[in-house]
Amino acid sequence: MKTLISADRIAARVAELGAAVTRDYAGKELVLVCVLKGSFVFAADLARAIGLPLRIEFLGVQSYGDGTVSSGEARITLDIAHPLAGWHVLLVEDIVDTGLTLSFLLETLSSRHPASLKVCSLLHKPARQRIPVAIDYLGFTLQDAFVVGYGLDHAGLHRNLPHIGVMDRQ
Ligand code: IMP
Repeated sequence: MKTLISADRIAARVAELGAAVTRDYAGKELVLVCVLKGSFVFAADLARAIGLPLRIEFLGVQSYGDGTVSSGEARITLDIAHPLAGWHVLLVEDIVDTGLTLSFLLETLSSRHPASLKVCSLLHKPARQRIPVAIDYLGFTLQDAFVVGYGLDHAGLHRNLPHIGVMDRQ
């Protein structure tokens, strides 16, 4: 495993994303929806980089088994208790790979009638995307590699690494 994106580079990019969100949502009622488990580290840093009063909610979704290949399925494992109707919702994702999870989540959350629904993803692998979904705020674009750290796992491990590391696909 080698370091692909250092903790310093991540921190600098998260600060930029936070500033952009602060500017774009000024005066609005913002809810960050942190998609568990992968985006818990990113969402914690992003929330503190946003200079607005905001709500934070957690949504559990499972899209992968223990391997590194998408199962093609997503399901909600923990739902948001609060209504989203009338709120500006920013979905915080760790990574958009095939786009299956994100398109499922956008469909699910849009049925709850938020005032707006946008996406902030730390990482994107455009070469692997199968479903076209728009990412409104993006941290980094990646080549096709399986990455871990800063919340992302392989078989449940490595989420605690402070940087993003790259693993050989297994
Ligand atoms: P998608 O539905 O194929 O876009 O996959 C999205 C989910 O797959 C992410 O939220 C991650 O949990 C997981 N995933 C995709 N690529 C990686 C990776 O390189 N490392 C760790 N998890 C990944």
